[in-house]
Amino acid sequence: MAKPVRVGIVGCGTVGTGVAQILLTKGEEIEKKTGVKLVVSKIATRNWNKKRFFNVPEPLRTTDWKEVVQNSDIVVELIGGIDTAKEVVETALKMGKPVVTANKHLLAEFGYEIANLARENDTAILFEGAVGGGIPLVKVLKETLCSNEVSEIQGILNGTTNYILTKMEKENLSFEEALLQAQEKGYAEADPTFDIEGIDTAHKIAILAMLAFGGKVDFSQVFVEGITQVNVLDIKLGMEMGYKLKLLAIAKRRDNGEIEIRVHPTFIPLSNPLSNVDGVFNGILFKSDYLGQLKLQGAGAGAYPTATAVVQDIIQLAVGLSRYGKVCDVTPIGWANRRLKIAKDFYSRYYLRFDVEDKPGVLYKIAQILASKGISIAGVLQQEWILKFLPSRSEVVPLIILTHKAYESKIKSAVEEIEKLPFVRSKPVLIRVEEEKY
Ligand SMILES: NC(=O)c1ccc[n+]([C@@H]2O[C@H](COP(=O)([O-])OP(=O)(O)OC[C@H]3O[C@@H](n4cnc5c(N)ncnc54)[C@H](OP(=O)(O)O)[C@@H]3O)[C@@H](O)[C@H]2O)c1
Repeated sequence: MAKPVRVGIVGCGTVGTGVAQILLTKGEEIEKKTGVKLVVSKIATRNWNKKRFFNVPEPLRTTDWKEVVQNSDIVVELIGGIDTAKEVVETALKMGKPVVTANKHLLAEFGYEIANLARENDTAILFEGAVGGGIPLVKVLKETLCSNEVSEIQGILNGTTNYILTKMEKENLSFEEALLQAQEKGYAEADPTFDIEGIDTAHKIAILAMLAFGGKVDFSQVFVEGITQVNVLDIKLGMEMGYKLKLLAIAKRRDNGEIEIRVHPTFIPLSNPLSNVDGVFNGILFKSDYLGQLKLQGAGAGAYPTATAVVQDIIQLAVGLSRYGKVCDVTPIGWANRRLKIAKDFYSRYYLRFDVEDKPGVLYKIAQILASKGISIAGVLQQEWILKFLPSRSEVVPLIILTHKAYESKIKSAVEEIEKLPFVRSKPVLIRVEEEKY
């Protein structure tokens, strides 16, 4: 009979506790299905006096992560952040021990170095739980789409922001009101900065882009804009025009080989399959040459969905160790030896809202500035039509312009110029529109 595989867990918080619970309660079932016996060797956390939703047996407890690494065949890092997490991962890999993590922050910033370290030490790092929680996005990219060329990824990758935008849309709430509700329901952290500023989403799309396009993404080059400035008026106006507003992560390969990678509030048409991914759910679209379009949707976070993904990785590694004495991993080799060229500018359609004085000549002047930058107007919204969304008639009215595709740098310079015009009364609103046919 094959030797049991020892699994050590570092970090016993939301996800770590879920992983401990699954391994300690489903071990027999996993063994029946795979023939591999998993044994939890040690679990480290800082303070065992904190209440957890699953009671970890006393003999498994420690506060010393080194003890976990020492006594395991597979090391599971679930403390999050960079400092100690990086040390745990690097220590295990240098000892030739495979690692499972859900740490998107660490992978987005150091995935390239860590993948190299794993390869140098003839072992592996798996990270299904880092992106999309329980949705097997990493597996699809690494395995299903290994034979395909991926041209584009679009994703709603953060449940907190998707919940906030859905609440704003459906209940007419302000951003602040919707955020408060998300916090009350436990969908947003006390400090929600990483979520609402789009950073969490950016970490995830950086990881997916590295896998899809086979190379390192310099995280500082990912364009990120969060949802803190989103106004419910624009969500409503978008709906009237047939668009939903989503915090969308986009990664696409251009014909010249450059990669566009960005995160920002985005209007998508109702025909886009992601438009009905609402609430805390995550959704993703992969476009590739042979498979075509693939949409996945599900629980993008939470203790059990994420723990399920982590355990999936543990099982994959354990089966390799137990049956063949070696881990098996299909992470694209390119990730570890190539840097992706990230596009500096990008090309999109735009929704622009200018709050302007209600007088003749305003549209003419704005159109002139746009034209001077080579930006052509696809449509202008009737002011009378918009007024029904305003509380009362005022001297300042919103002027909405939809542009044809233009470079972001040109749009920004036009908007800066328009903002200085005397009849423009507040900061213009700029929202990118993704309008591919679906
Ligand atoms: N939560 C989710 O839904 C979710 C989804 C996808 C990915 N992730 C990722 O999964 C990872 C874990 O997230 P989480 O939500 O489970 O975080 P969490 O609830 O904050 O848990 C982190 C745990 O790590 C422990 N810890 C911190 N420093 C430690 C150290 N030096 N030694 C030992 N233990 C230490 C903490 O211990 P104490 O409790 O004792 O202080 C805590 O139990 C993160 O990388 C996160 O990004 C989370």
